[in-house]
Amino acid sequence: MTSARVTDILGQMTTEEKIGQLNQLSADFFPDGQAVITGPMKTQHMTLDTLYQAGSVLGISGAERVRKVQADYLAHNRLQVPLLFMADVVHGYRTIFPIPLALGASFDPAIVRHASAIAAKESAAGGVHVTFAPMVDLVRDPRWGRVMESTGEDPYLNSVLAEASVQGFQGALPLDNDHIAACVKHFAAYGAPEGGREYNTVDISEWRFKEQYLPSYAAAIKAQALLVMTSFNTLFGVPATGNQHLMRDILREELQFNGVLISDWDAIGELMQHGVAGSLTEAADLALQAGVDIDMMSFAFAQYLKRAARLDAQTQTLIDEAVRRVLELKETLGLFDDPYRGISAKREAAVVGNQDNMAAAELAAEQTMVLLKNRNQLLPLDSATKIVLIGPTSDTGDLLGSWSWQGSSAETETIVHAMAASFSSVESAPGCDYHALNFKALETAEKIGRNADVIVAALGFPSAESGEATSMTNIQLPAEQLRLLRKLATLGKPIVSLVVTGRPLDLTEVDALSDSVLLTWFPGSRGAQAITRIISGASEPGGRLPMSFPRTVGQVPVYYNHYHTGRPLNHNASDAENKYLSKYIDETNDPLYPFGFGLGYADIELKDLTIQQPQLSPNETLYVHVKVVNSADIDGQTVVQIYGHQLVGETVRPVKQLIGFKKVAVAAKQTVELTIAIQPEQLGYYHRDLAFKIDSGKYEIMAGTSSQTTLQADFTIVGTEKEDDHA
Ligand code: GLC
Repeated sequence: MTSARVTDILGQMTTEEKIGQLNQLSADFFPDGQAVITGPMKTQHMTLDTLYQAGSVLGISGAERVRKVQADYLAHNRLQVPLLFMADVVHGYRTIFPIPLALGASFDPAIVRHASAIAAKESAAGGVHVTFAPMVDLVRDPRWGRVMESTGEDPYLNSVLAEASVQGFQGALPLDNDHIAACVKHFAAYGAPEGGREYNTVDISEWRFKEQYLPSYAAAIKAQALLVMTSFNTLFGVPATGNQHLMRDILREELQFNGVLISDWDAIGELMQHGVAGSLTEAADLALQAGVDIDMMSFAFAQYLKRAARLDAQTQTLIDEAVRRVLELKETLGLFDDPYRGISAKREAAVVGNQDNMAAAELAAEQTMVLLKNRNQLLPLDSATKIVLIGPTSDTGDLLGSWSWQGSSAETETIVHAMAASFSSVESAPGCDYHALNFKALETAEKIGRNADVIVAALGFPSAESGEATSMTNIQLPAEQLRLLRKLATLGKPIVSLVVTGRPLDLTEVDALSDSVLLTWFPGSRGAQAITRIISGASEPGGRLPMSFPRTVGQVPVYYNHYHTGRPLNHNASDAENKYLSKYIDETNDPLYPFGFGLGYADIELKDLTIQQPQLSPNETLYVHVKVVNSADIDGQTVVQIYGHQLVGETVRPVKQLIGFKKVAVAAKQTVELTIAIQPEQLGYYHRDLAFKIDSGKYEIMAGTSSQTTLQADFTIVGTEKEDDHA
């Protein structure tokens, strides 16, 4: 319901002022708190007073700077409509949490919610009103660099964590000054570019889109995300930013999204490059008709200024609709009551990067790192172990990952420094650079490696090779690092390999050459301390894989919730004999490490899976019971994962799909009895007619501590669901 204040302001606005609200400018137009024309706006007939009508700016933060820009802006804005400050606060503001793909590995919505809440509190103190997060694109292709921004390959895990992230950023509505508006992105299916090549074509059926890619956006919108961002890619043959079916029918109508729809950077202008608009004016019309409210940096909506006097009634109505949503967002943020949302240097200094927040980032890092191998329980290491730390990530603060613009690598502790504080003997050498190896460095590494009890190989990538515009065809570690690891392996010492990465990698050779492999991701501001605590046993690696790790890039896409096909493997000796099966002749089908996999230090297994209702109606909650047994003499934790499978569907059904999970701590020699409630909609799917329904019939429940489940039970759904469900 539009407030009287918004209606009143809208009623007073000139057409130029309305169009201004739909323009977002980048920070460089306000470099010193004063608006200034430095960019292409000169060619867009934009003038300084029009600049003071721009509705929002992206990339400005800092309490004092925001205060200056806002004060100057309001001094020049006729109706005193405050400027909206947006920014990419993706996995932290000054306190940088592990990258979102790592947070996905936590399998813990509480951790994700808390990380987003801290990011919100810090960035709100820094004057930010809206974050361009969470990114909830489902991704099954590690070649795509932005996989680091996702929480992986599973619709259900992505949905649960998308909801948690929105809740963390926004808190309860109306937003208080410690929370910011979430902008869920990128709508839609940006994570499925052909070839894993950045900005490439996405061409999936509407059935697959709704079955696998839509759920996480829907969950974020159900959690009341106040904004959505359009994606660069095409979908169903039309670029998302100009796609009425996607934006009007699916986003606004089916998902009932009534918030602000903002384009991605220049995505409206790019409708010309896509070849669906012959001019910037045509691009503007396409986007406005598709329901886009804010134009990020293409100046397409500014074209309306040229013909403001001649705008037809329909365009004027669409402009009013868009402006109303922008004004309502500003009202929800409380900006009309306080354009500064209580920012001050004092509040900023007390909140941004404080020790409590850093401690939360360290805990999150411990709970997201994944122990992929631990032969003979090599880890954890005793503090007296003579450690030789070798590799390009051993002594660098570049552990924050992409989209950590307010974090400081320079202030981020290095792995060697953190380990030296916990182990009595740590020698280190780079061994090689990320992509360069020299004989002397190799010789030094070999020499000090001979003195080690245990070699810790610190391997991986720089943040710059992860994130937007970093697609890669080769997903192995650089050849130089593999050569270093081979050399270290000749020394006959136990090797722990640390892998700093923003994407799943082909770690086949690393696995073969290492006794232990710890996937650290880009672990954030306190990543080095978390790595040290895990290696020393002060904490247990809590992460489980949110994405399958392939044996080779040739398997991509490889994911656990695949379909049977008509010639599935039988997973027995016959598979080798039978030529005509869905398989390769040069590699197995299964990944090196499967979805949901990760080791701990205790010895935990699941027992006695039972289903409370062997028969139930489609509207009933299903209760699954399982025992979690820790037979070790140390405390431990695991992620209990519940997978479902419908034996016969109207469309094909995944061999299994995650429908419930719970991170569980189990004390030494203890058993925890766990009940997981499965909501009915977890068993539904999109039928041939794209209607979402739950079928009666036979189902399997499988349980495990990874997608390679170990327990199974059956149940049957009888009857049909009531029509009013799943509206
Ligand atoms: C970028 C990204 C988007 C980001 C925006 C603003 O191109 O695609 O995720 O939020 O521009 O920085």
